[in-house]
Amino acid sequence: MNTKNPNNLNAIKEFSRFSKDYNSYNQIQTQVAKQLIDKLPHDHYGIIADIGCGTGALYDRLIKSEISFEILKAFDASEQMLLLHPSSKKAITQYFDFNIPNSFASIKDKFDLVLSSSALQWSKDLDWTISQIARIGDNFYGAIFTSDTFKTIHETASINSPIYSADNIKKAFDRSYKDTQYEIYTYKLHFDSKKELFNYIKKSGVSGGEQKLSYKRTKTLMREYPLDYLEFEVIFIKASN
Ligand SMILES: C[S@@+](CC[C@H](N)C(=O)[O-])C[C@H]1O[C@@H](n2cnc3c(N)ncnc32)[C@H](O)[C@@H]1O
Repeated sequence: MNTKNPNNLNAIKEFSRFSKDYNSYNQIQTQVAKQLIDKLPHDHYGIIADIGCGTGALYDRLIKSEISFEILKAFDASEQMLLLHPSSKKAITQYFDFNIPNSFASIKDKFDLVLSSSALQWSKDLDWTISQIARIGDNFYGAIFTSDTFKTIHETASINSPIYSADNIKKAFDRSYKDTQYEIYTYKLHFDSKKELFNYIKKSGVSGGEQKLSYKRTKTLMREYPLDYLEFEVIFIKASN
C-alpha cells in the first residue's frame, strides 16, 4: 500500500542571485541536496549509492551532517563531474548512465540507501530508470525538478516543459515501490536583470534541455516575461519496498 502525504507540503524558499556568498550556478541544487540529507532518518548507513552524483553535493552534505556511513558509491555519466567528486576509500566514483541497461547490469551491490538529487529529470524513460533503481536497493530518498520549473517562462513562450510533471514522477515511483511519500517545494531565484535571468537558464542544468527558441523569439520572451525571478519546483521522494 502506498503511504502518501495528503498535503504535499509546499514551501517556498527565495534566493537572490547576487547574494554575497553565491558565485556559481548551483544555488538551488545545493539547497535541495541539503534538504534531502536533512530528511534522512537514521544516524548511520552501510553502503550508499548516489545516482547522478555530480561534483559531490550529497557527499559534502553527508560529511557535514551527523550521519555516518561505511561507503558511498557515486555514479554519474559525466567523466568531468566524476573527476571533481571527492574520491577516497569512503567515496568511490563510477561511470554510470541511468538510461542504459548495461550500467545497471554492472552494479553488483545491493545498497542500504539509494540517493539521487537534481539528476533524474534527465532520465529518458523515467518508469524504466526507477524500476532499475528499485532493484539495487529497497530504500530510496531523492529529489527531482518537475515541469513547473520555469513555469511562467513556458507559459509566456507557449511551450511545454521538456521535463516530467510531479504526477508522472509519482506514478513512476508508485509502480516500483510499495511505500512512497512525496513533498513538493518551490523556490524563487531573483535577478537584477532579464539578461542575467535568461543566461542562468542555459547554465543551470536543471531543466533537462530547454527547447531551442530562435533569437527573435528569445528577444520577445525576454521582453514579455513578467517576473524578475525564476521559478523552480522540486519533488522530494521517499520510497521503500
Ligand atoms: C544538476 S546535476 C546534480 C548533481 C548532484 N547530484 C547535485 O545535487 O548537485 C545533474 C547530474 O546528473 C548527471 N546525469 C545526467 N544524465 C545522466 C545519466 N543519464 N546517467 C547518470 N548521470 C547523469 C549529470 O552529469 C550531472 O552530474
